[in-house]
Amino acid sequence: MNPREVALACLLQLSKKDVSISSVVDEAFNRYTLNSRDRRFVNALVYGVIRWKQQLDWVLGQFVNPKFRLDSKHRAILRLGAFQLLHLDGIPPHAAIYETVQLAKKNRKTTGFINAVLRSVQRKASELVYPSLDTHPIDHIAYSMSYPKWLVKRWIQSRGLPWTLAFCEASNQIASLSLRIDINKTYRDEFCEYLKSIGLSPKVSTFVPDGIVIENNAILDKNKGTTLDKDNILKDVITRDDVYVQDESAMLVSYLLMKDAPKLVVDLCAAPGGKTTHIASMIGNTGKVIAVDITKKKLTLLRENCSRLGVKNVDTLTIDATSADLSFIKSADAVLIDAPCSGFGTLRRHPDARWNKTSNQLLVLNDLQYKLLESAARHIKPGGIIVYSTCTVEQSENQGIVSRFLKNFPMFLVENAEDCLPEIPKNAITPEGFLQIFPHEHGIDGAFAARLRRI
Ligand SMILES: C[S@@+](CC[C@H](N)C(=O)[O-])C[C@H]1O[C@@H](n2cnc3c(N)ncnc32)[C@H](O)[C@@H]1O
Repeated sequence: MNPREVALACLLQLSKKDVSISSVVDEAFNRYTLNSRDRRFVNALVYGVIRWKQQLDWVLGQFVNPKFRLDSKHRAILRLGAFQLLHLDGIPPHAAIYETVQLAKKNRKTTGFINAVLRSVQRKASELVYPSLDTHPIDHIAYSMSYPKWLVKRWIQSRGLPWTLAFCEASNQIASLSLRIDINKTYRDEFCEYLKSIGLSPKVSTFVPDGIVIENNAILDKNKGTTLDKDNILKDVITRDDVYVQDESAMLVSYLLMKDAPKLVVDLCAAPGGKTTHIASMIGNTGKVIAVDITKKKLTLLRENCSRLGVKNVDTLTIDATSADLSFIKSADAVLIDAPCSGFGTLRRHPDARWNKTSNQLLVLNDLQYKLLESAARHIKPGGIIVYSTCTVEQSENQGIVSRFLKNFPMFLVENAEDCLPEIPKNAITPEGFLQIFPHEHGIDGAFAARLRRI
């Protein structure tokens, strides 16, 4: 199969099942043999079409008679073609159209139709006018930036138009690869030198002492013409025993928790173990982390991550933390609740998250998030710390949960995140003292965290 055929197969699977893009793409890479250049092309096509789906449909809708009923295959082919024409540099339009039309080649009638629509997109898309930002801001953002209307409306109502425009723009960018280095094993500067020596262009994180960012997975030109394979270089890097792929905003949460150097930490929503392994390596041999998760399979992944990283001070426990007996928390110095959430802070990496949530699902999540916090709070000892965190920007999942909690549990006080994260930009701390990261302001994934002490 060629890359466009593989991308089409992935898109068709995504239109049928509620599965993540990464699992569908990974499965396709296992099934079909593609070189690293073609794999990158498949990734660009699948993630790009999902990210820009609503914009692509709006543009295509200007050229396809609404009475014409497109089946999912032809819709996906048209989206693939329009995405290449509107968003991918470096592919001559005639080649993009010709190769895309070939995807429908079994049916001569439809190839003519797809060819005609894509030629119209090529010729006329730049003249199209989106609904006005002044008079129809929701439609303008929904179609021109490709977001569901209910979310755009929600963000404009809660945070205002300038925030929504900036957030939507930043969340459509392709995020850099962000790595956490185990600084107990490896000096960060030396690791950066190593990365440069193999053709990568790393930068040290300005947020955390163990973060390294590799801009857009860039590989230096000096590797051109050599036999080095970019995918294999990156695979070798990210499977090392001193490296974990993790966004800087996620790393900040572990630092927020680790102030005062707790020795026994319970991580109540631990899998796949990004924060567990970070915290465990900070605690070292003199303490441990109890890693809890509701999903057995995910905890297996967590144990595999611990074993790859040589982390030995983690015990695991499969339970539902909202209903199980959590009395073991009494001995903990700190509890982390990295709650399941909408993930809207990570739209750069997971563009599908915008399409697969509803406002009702947010309410269900709110319920779960509150219950997790409440269950931990009933057991933590006086003086103990709870850090509640999410990777979303939704106020209802963040400030909403914590303020409801503080009303019902007045024996908890907020500790200002600024005191734990002295290097953090001032605008990443809310007036209440919570950590709040936005991609458009800080250039990293959106995240929220509150540090709460039981008095
Ligand atoms: C945001 S993820 C945690 C990510 C993890 N902290 C990390 O840094 O890699 C949320 C996790 O909570 C788990 N979870 C959801 N409901 C739960 C419950 N009732 N009890 C325990 N874990 C739960 C999910 O299985 C999922 O692994």
